[in-house]
Amino acid sequence: MRRLPFIAGNWKMNKTVEEALLLTRELKEALNEVKDVEVAIAPPFTALYPVFQELKGSSIRLACQNLFWEEKGAYTGEVSPLMLKEVGCRYVIIGHSERRQYFGETDETVNRRIKAALKVGLKVIFCIGETLSERENGETFSVIERQVKGGLQGLGEKEIEDLVIAYEPVWAIGTGKTATPQQAQEVHRFIRAQLRQLFSDGLAEDVRVQYGGSVTPENIKGLMAQEDIDGALVGGASLKAESFSRIVRFREM
Ligand code: PGA
Repeated sequence: MRRLPFIAGNWKMNKTVEEALLLTRELKEALNEVKDVEVAIAPPFTALYPVFQELKGSSIRLACQNLFWEEKGAYTGEVSPLMLKEVGCRYVIIGHSERRQYFGETDETVNRRIKAALKVGLKVIFCIGETLSERENGETFSVIERQVKGGLQGLGEKEIEDLVIAYEPVWAIGTGKTATPQQAQEVHRFIRAQLRQLFSDGLAEDVRVQYGGSVTPENIKGLMAQEDIDGALVGGASLKAESFSRIVRFREM
């Protein structure tokens, strides 16, 4: 396969610094010799710097879960792209459905965040996905198309090379209801077709598209067997070293 599989753990609002360090140590140990999969973990802001220190010498990459698009200034409670880069982040998750749902994130604000991240050299995990009612109304593809176009508005081919797309059907997140490999593949293929239309064949072939939504050690293999699924964004199952490392080692399952 030409695209290196990419498995990322989204810890959401979980883990104190002490707990985060413990999990990081366990993951370093468990994933020590994994070379053929790129792995990232996204702890909460407060644990980023200590986890970065703990990850030294490991190939596990550090990610954060959000950022604000301004460089600095009077934006109480926000964190800038450069601040996150400085504490060792390689990736940033942008546009997660929980942010869209609870914090008013829109395609436009997602687009601003993506641009600000790429500008300082942070790679982006750009999340998209339809809700249950959108799926039931037959709107899955139109929602995905709107999110892809809106999120990537004004970006050039060169910039998209530093971006990964995570397809996360909202109805599958934290619900234990995974999309079937076929349901996911269908949307992943559609996303790649969008990239082909907006950019080029080459870019569409190179961009990695992760699946997210109740990924477990039990279902990862079937998902990864699909042609257009290049990895996973894992929530609940990334909070324990045992389940997350089994997902990363999907080939051995
Ligand atoms: P989940 O979360 O694996 O717990 O469903 C996935 C995500 O929200 O990224």
